[in-house]
Amino acid sequence: MSLVSAAMKRINPSATIAISNKARELKAAGRDVIALAAGEPDFDTPDNIKEAAIKAINGNQTRYTAVDGIPELKAAIVAKFKRENGLTYKPSQVTVGTGGKQVLFNALLATVDAGDEVIIPAPYWVSYPDIVNFAGGTPVAIETKLEDNFKLKPEALEAAITPKTKWLIFNSPSNPSGAAYNREEMKALTDVLVKYPHVLILTDDMYEHLVYDDFEFVTPAQVEPALYDRTLTMNGVSKAYCMTGWRIGYAAGPEELIKAIGTLQSQSTSNPNSIAQWAAVEALNGPQDFIAANNKVFKERRDLVVSMLNQANGLTCPKPEGAFYVYPSCAGVIGKTAPSGKKIATDEDFATELLDAEGVAVVHGSAFGLGPAFRISYATSTKDLEEACLRIQRFCGSLR
Ligand SMILES: Cc1ncc(COP(=O)(O)O)c(C=O)c1O
Repeated sequence: MSLVSAAMKRINPSATIAISNKARELKAAGRDVIALAAGEPDFDTPDNIKEAAIKAINGNQTRYTAVDGIPELKAAIVAKFKRENGLTYKPSQVTVGTGGKQVLFNALLATVDAGDEVIIPAPYWVSYPDIVNFAGGTPVAIETKLEDNFKLKPEALEAAITPKTKWLIFNSPSNPSGAAYNREEMKALTDVLVKYPHVLILTDDMYEHLVYDDFEFVTPAQVEPALYDRTLTMNGVSKAYCMTGWRIGYAAGPEELIKAIGTLQSQSTSNPNSIAQWAAVEALNGPQDFIAANNKVFKERRDLVVSMLNQANGLTCPKPEGAFYVYPSCAGVIGKTAPSGKKIATDEDFATELLDAEGVAVVHGSAFGLGPAFRISYATSTKDLEEACLRIQRFCGSLR
């Protein structure tokens, strides 16, 4: 007899955990390790947001709230969608959860039946296929290409749609590639989606504000209003507002879906943390100028990392539009031998040997469904990034 459920057997622990654990072990053993594996900004939460939370505590905003968000936060989210995306929602079309991750989990659990297909462009955020599998659905990955800067092409999208397709999960800017779709690229995809009214669109806009070089962010329901009624637009405060630990994410979409998400949440976690909700009100309604200041630093780091990685033997690194990741291909080192004598047969071998030889922790691309490649998070100090890239260059140069 098995202790765990059949659903649990369909999912795996996050593949990124193994390399993070190894990095931690090496650090604990006194090794000089630079970890480029974390998916969070290295900047602190702005003071005005922290103060709003302190005010909420002192004002005794410490009890259960409405399950899917306080009215003040829903109003701030409605205003955000109007102001930034030109999208009009009623508060009853908005749900707030414990991080964007819970909102995604709820949305998929509330809608996916056995046999339903969910299209996921690869490379993808590691949790998408596992959540779909847990819900009993079938993830359908579409591999993108390095020469397309890891962007989904309309022909590939159309070829993947079947009568069983329930959702397309769309993430721009992308974790792990950093790729973001401009209006024209997005329109080419929404033109395909308009033709298939049975397909729902789950757009993960978590990195909306983290775009560089005057890139204009767009989201599917904004580019194609005909998709408004079947799009769940998901976003959150974790990344742009440096609030990963606060755990507030949100989404807006069709009322029936929002209601179902609320029902599921009412039987699991109930409301997201009351104090964090008040902090998120301040994040969305308060000053936004720190985002541009942070982005200036992120852009400089991106440019540094892309340039240094492209000078490493066997690596090719596209320059992405956003997020704080780059996703270099390591196809040019596969088949070579590391200084340890180990042959590098996969991108996972590359990441393991790089960590062993040079103490640089990166995440192998096969964990994100597309390799041979690896992900670097440049949300770390410029000094460490420069040193890490020098070590990567040295490591690649040492392969025979
Ligand atoms: C693409 C993407 N979506 C969603 C999330 C979840 O964010 P959170 O649950 O912190 O709001 C993350 C976090 O890493 C992410 O990278």
